[in-house]
Amino acid sequence: MLLRKSIINAYTQYWKDILVFIVIGMILSFLELLGISIILPILDGTSSSATKIPYPLSIVSAIFIDMEFNTKLKYIAIILVIIFFIKGIFAYLNGILGAKLERKVSKNYVLKCYKGITSVNAGYLDGVKKTDLFTKSVAFAGGYGNVIRLIANIVPLLMTLAILMGALLMIYPIMLILSLSVAVFSSILIRNIHTKSELAGKKITQTNQKLNFIFIEEISGLKTRRLSNSINQSVSFIKERLEEWSISFLGLEKITVLIKPVIELIGIISLAFILLGFSYFLNDSNMFVDNSTAILTFMVIFSRVLSPVSAINQSISDIKSNLPYLRITDEFLSELANEKVIDGHIEKTKIEKSIEFKNVTFRYNKSNTDSLSNVSFSITEGSKVGIVGVSGSGKSTLVDLLLRHYQPTSGNILVDGIDLKDVTLVSWYEILGIVNQDPFLFDSSISYNISFGQDSGNLQKTIIAAKKAHIHDFIMSLPDGYDSKVGGRGDLLSGGQRQRISIARALYHDPDVLVFDEATSALDSETELDIRSAITELSTTKTIIMVTHRMSTILDSDLIIVMDKGKIIQCGNPDDLIKQKNSKFYQLLKGNSIG
Ligand SMILES: Nc1ncnc2c1ncn2[C@@H]1O[C@H](COP(=O)(O)OP(=O)(O)OP(=O)(O)O)[C@@H](O)[C@H]1O
Ligand SMILES: [Mg+2]
Repeated sequence: MLLRKSIINAYTQYWKDILVFIVIGMILSFLELLGISIILPILDGTSSSATKIPYPLSIVSAIFIDMEFNTKLKYIAIILVIIFFIKGIFAYLNGILGAKLERKVSKNYVLKCYKGITSVNAGYLDGVKKTDLFTKSVAFAGGYGNVIRLIANIVPLLMTLAILMGALLMIYPIMLILSLSVAVFSSILIRNIHTKSELAGKKITQTNQKLNFIFIEEISGLKTRRLSNSINQSVSFIKERLEEWSISFLGLEKITVLIKPVIELIGIISLAFILLGFSYFLNDSNMFVDNSTAILTFMVIFSRVLSPVSAINQSISDIKSNLPYLRITDEFLSELANEKVIDGHIEKTKIEKSIEFKNVTFRYNKSNTDSLSNVSFSITEGSKVGIVGVSGSGKSTLVDLLLRHYQPTSGNILVDGIDLKDVTLVSWYEILGIVNQDPFLFDSSISYNISFGQDSGNLQKTIIAAKKAHIHDFIMSLPDGYDSKVGGRGDLLSGGQRQRISIARALYHDPDVLVFDEATSALDSETELDIRSAITELSTTKTIIMVTHRMSTILDSDLIIVMDKGKIIQCGNPDDLIKQKNSKFYQLLKGNSIG
């Protein structure tokens, strides 16, 4: 029921398109009736037969009333071709417009899903399979397009059916009622088929989802598979999923191919009832002769009814098999809406005084322990802060809260006394620049990866940022300079080069605060030194927050925070901390590197 409501809601905005199908349907059904009326005068071969043709078909037939039989045939042949030519044009138009509408609706839904995904919070993205997002958005959301096209198919068929039924009703109402009662009885059988189509459609969505997931996962892990000699396992994995996938499609086929023969059988049974009816009502052969034109007319029209009935049922079955896609799309869209990231309302262009963590506690959705508990510290504007601690101590979580990927479970982060959640995301990301251990590079040029095409890819700004990140000389040594491609995820670059490009990216919009999360840990000491000197140059003008395992990088900090099991266990300037010989900081320093 809910789904039906959401389908109606979804399609009301396309009412103009649907109206076009109604108009085409009217034209097509009129032409169908006209076609039948034209054929009827041939039925018993005599020119006077038209008088016996029932109303309203007799209106057309009357034109031929005084014609010679041969002339009549010639005219009928020509007019028939013309009528069916025009009918063909409208049927083609209906098909083309249906296909266009299908694409339009599918496109809108895929985009709606994508926009939804772009506005969800990081916690949701962490907990969801990326292939599911892809499958639901790209493959399933298109279901709305499929269904509207099927509706566009059904509209003219329904109108044709209605007009044919109307004609039948005017000729022999009792016969029509007789045959309809058979049809109603049979519809129970058909409904069963439709329900099964829906179930089969559901099965397809499930196997589709599974196949896409395994396929992408296996491709991503192919190198690892090869190294562990398990490529064969990968192939048999895919084969199993493919088996399920094709069985699910076959399941639907088995149901849909049933429709045509069943409808035909129902048609024949109805016909049998009609014949029995005639034999009952017209109980002597003279009566039959008197009524022969009307009876033949009834039969001709009745034979034309079967084709739209079969096509309508086929389309209904297809709609039903698409309903699970629509249901998933609806649930998906409302899930995305519920997980929407919450934006603030205060524009902050600069940090005047400080960023303060006040009793911040945070627990990930699927975790049963706090990853940060009661964390409090303050970062003064323009200072350099080092955050250290063993692996899993909560350093990246702390950074993620600052980046607003997550909201604190309790406590507050204050920027110049304003709660961070009240600051608009756009203005906050103007203030922040972030560099992490595994920067994401897009499969595009170096300049795009630095500027993201902002300010129409201002090359001057890009070069300034690249120079500050000590990567300009390297870029200039490439044959295509700033236009050089970096490959998928930056595969054509080394780890250090990727890191420096991401530093240039962070510097491109000249942020107030730079956050480095293990930005140098994967680098050799020479590259690290180079990046460190880049960071030192920057620290004279910017607030720097540096998460690292390498103690040497943070010894010139104004403040060092030592984390352990989600808590701050030491906090102060390096000179004071060094004096505490039994402290964690001292241990870390002696080991130089931690983790
Ligand atoms: N998305 C997540 N969902 C649930 N728990 C998480 C998630 N991310 C991290 N954690 C948990 O939170 C704790 C802190 O992780 P965090 O990544 O902040 O550590 P870290 O100090 O940055 O470690 P490393 O030095 O290894 O990067 C860990 O126990 C980790 O298992
Ligand atoms: Mg980390």
